[in-house]
Amino acid sequence: MNDLSATLARWYESHKRELPWRSDPSPYHVWLSEVILQQTRVNQGLDYFNRFIERWPALSDLAHASEEEVLKMWQGLGYYSRARNLLKCAQQVLEDHDGNFPADHEQLLKLKGIGSYTAAAIASIAFGLPYAVIDGNVYRVLARLFDIDTPINKDAGIKVFAQLADELLDKEQPGRHNQAMMEFGALHCTPRNPDCLHCPIQSHCLAFAHGTVGQRPQKEKTINVRTRYFNYLVFSDLNNNTYLHRREENDIWRNLYDFPNIESTAPLSIEALIENEQFQSLVEKNEFAIQRISAPFTHKLSHQTIIAKFFEIKINGFLSIIQTNNLLLTAEKKLDDYPTPKLIENYISRN
Ligand code: ADE
Repeated sequence: MNDLSATLARWYESHKRELPWRSDPSPYHVWLSEVILQQTRVNQGLDYFNRFIERWPALSDLAHASEEEVLKMWQGLGYYSRARNLLKCAQQVLEDHDGNFPADHEQLLKLKGIGSYTAAAIASIAFGLPYAVIDGNVYRVLARLFDIDTPINKDAGIKVFAQLADELLDKEQPGRHNQAMMEFGALHCTPRNPDCLHCPIQSHCLAFAHGTVGQRPQKEKTINVRTRYFNYLVFSDLNNNTYLHRREENDIWRNLYDFPNIESTAPLSIEALIENEQFQSLVEKNEFAIQRISAPFTHKLSHQTIIAKFFEIKINGFLSIIQTNNLLLTAEKKLDDYPTPKLIENYISRN
């Protein structure tokens, strides 16, 4: 093992957080924790992990869950295709591998939702196989140690960092090495205000020597973000029921529930809403009164920004075309029973 890796391993042994997937690094635990940790930090991820394990102690339990229940458990983490893939992957492992994750990097990569990051994490942490894991923390640690200014989100950067990570890997204890790199990035070599003065690998760090720590890693700004306006109709009938919309379209939030929505290319006023054809065909001849309009909620996703307004509408009667619009009628106090996107959860919790 090289000097750097040995120092990091010593640091890890005395600073690592005690976590359930570390005390019992079974492939199921490692896989579940890594998928969750792609969406959130360890503190919050730990709660999700514990709830998943309490509900589905073994992979075969999860494989028999309904998608709706898995989505509900995942609620708040965002990027719901990860939750759908979690279930599909559990089913695949149960059906194709007798319920045991394969101890083979190539085979792991064939499983639903498992990309190179997760495959390397499971292979190294659960099976002790020599694959280097590279997440955001590792990119930062490597970029600083070697003072690399190649952007980490471009092909050239990805190649350079993969090569470096492989060279540094402790092939005897790859699981410990990978976790030490990630943990060091998360706890010590942090994005802002890293504690360079007390850093155990300061003498190896080229960015420290060159005074470029604050500029590493480099990232190139890219993607066009599209703005969408959602005008949510939050109906309330005489029995305090409301309508929910099950999202089945090939769009964000598939199989989650939101409210009936009229999407527009610019913010809609009340007048424009009332004149809107979609609104009129939904409400038909029912009497209604728009009682309140929420302030806009801004919700940022990687490729789009949603600006949502919630129109709270008293209605006298029923919407008759609920089938064709994927709507269902439910008691307002039962809203918590349905998996909803974070945006909807934010709106409900503020009311
Ligand atoms: N972040 C994601 N996975 C991690 C792990 N196994 N250890 C530390 N930080 C992590």
